[in-house]
Amino acid sequence: MNFAGKVAVVTGAASGIGAAVAQGFAARGGTVVVADYNEQGARNQVQRITAAGGRALALRIDVTRAEDIQRMIDTAVATYGRLDLLHNNAYSFRSGPAGVWNISDEAWDHGINIGLTACFKAIRAAIPIMKSQGGGSIVNTASISGLFADVGASPYNAAKGGLINFTRTAAAEVDLASGSGDASHHHPPPRPAPALPITRWRD
Ligand SMILES: NC(=O)c1ccc[n+]([C@@H]2O[C@H](COP(=O)([O-])OP(=O)(O)OC[C@H]3O[C@@H](n4cnc5c(N)ncnc54)[C@H](O)[C@@H]3O)[C@@H](O)[C@H]2O)c1
Repeated sequence: MNFAGKVAVVTGAASGIGAAVAQGFAARGGTVVVADYNEQGARNQVQRITAAGGRALALRIDVTRAEDIQRMIDTAVATYGRLDLLHNNAYSFRSGPAGVWNISDEAWDHGINIGLTACFKAIRAAIPIMKSQGGGSIVNTASISGLFADVGASPYNAAKGGLINFTRTAAAEVDLASGSGDASHHHPPPRPAPALPITRWRD
């Protein structure tokens, strides 16, 4: 695959999965905005990409801040003239005692904001740009924890589960709005939900 002429924004690209995506995209000719709140980590990734002959820009943003999300999208377009890939990938855990009854408002809000609301806001900002260009791709890093009861991580599970179905809905809406969708395909008849295992429950 060749991404020459394509521009990507990857959140949480200073390390882990995001860093690997940024490196892979740049190695195949694309230009990457390495967006992360770890500024030094983002710079290190850019250095690594440019040393290998790629093109990248480090951008310090906090995805839980709406103004940073908008600045991230605006910077990609202002600097490189387009946006072809948005990868919503950043996440950070807040440690705390296990058990839904012990979760603070702050820990809950953090999980939902970083894992779900940030993705919504970035997608909402990116779609009009991609539509005006005639296309684009959006990737959201979810988790198996969005499908099963991963005990001790309910804000994470809720955010990732929400992200999975938000992704489905956003994709269906874009598809329908572009005229290529089939409404019956996007609204399948309801089926009984599968039983999900509740793992590692102890008390
Ligand atoms: N590693 C796994 O086993 C695994 C499994 C399933 C899903 N995931 C998901 O993959 C994604 C990446 O995880 P990873 O394992 O590469 O983790 P990681 O900790 O290596 O990378 C996360 C990056 O996000 C950045 N970040 C955190 N909070 C931020 C914020 N508010 N604003 C901007 N950047 C922020 C961090 O600085 C870091 O560079 C996450 O969404 C995670 O939930 C990971």
